[in-house]
Amino acid sequence: MKIFHENDASTEPLKGKTIAIIGYGNQGRPQALCLRDSGLNVIVGSIKDASFGKAVADGFEAMPIAEAAERADLIQILLPDEIQGDVYAKEIAKHVGKGKILCCSHGFSIVFKRIVPPKDADVIMVAPKSPGSEERKEYERGFGVPGLIAVYQNPSGKAKQYALAYAKAMGYTRAGVIECTFQQETYSDLSASRRCCAAE
Ligand SMILES: NC(=O)c1ccc[n+]([C@@H]2O[C@H](COP(=O)([O-])OP(=O)(O)OC[C@H]3O[C@@H](n4cnc5c(N)ncnc54)[C@H](OP(=O)(O)O)[C@@H]3O)[C@@H](O)[C@H]2O)c1
Repeated sequence: MKIFHENDASTEPLKGKTIAIIGYGNQGRPQALCLRDSGLNVIVGSIKDASFGKAVADGFEAMPIAEAAERADLIQILLPDEIQGDVYAKEIAKHVGKGKILCCSHGFSIVFKRIVPPKDADVIMVAPKSPGSEERKEYERGFGVPGLIAVYQNPSGKAKQYALAYAKAMGYTRAGVIECTFQQETYSDLSASRRCCAAE
């Protein structure tokens, strides 16, 4: 198993690209803030009044999801897993294709085919092994939480570089980043949730 650290990654592949954070909740807010603080261009796509307002209050350009998806080079879907498939079909799918990078922080929608991206788009996962509040706190104190990266589709040949760049901008490479597959992350997360439920 390879663990990626600071010197294994550069944010350069994402410099000058537009990153759309779709959903400004537990993960969306800390990811948007950390990416911006690392010098990347971030916009926010949201349909809910509450999170839309929070993003604007934090100084982001916020807009409807379809508009953010259209403008972005990298689309990071950070909506609740149960609604991702519907929102993708209605708002995002038409803006995903050649030259675009589709990203997530949990593989559920891709593994269970709620989202079926076109073959000419890169598809990656960059996921923290931590809740959003912790990842922001760790980033602000100059460190980071551990993370996972995975590549599902790589038509550009640069998908892993994009995933590592994102992970570095989030501070994850300071703690260590493990490469896995979408299936490994999804099934291990689901079985961990089941163990937690059984223990309650
Ligand atoms: N939570 C974690 O710590 C964690 C850790 C690792 C990975 N992940 C993954 O990260 C992704 C996002 O999870 P999350 O916990 O950040 O989600 P979340 O906080 O529950 O929701 C994210 C955003 O979705 C919006 N939203 C909720 N219902 C909606 C609807 N029906 N239509 C449109 N927007 C809606 C919320 O808006 P409002 O704020 O206005 O309600 C919020 O901005 C998931 O794939 C999850 O598995 C989460």
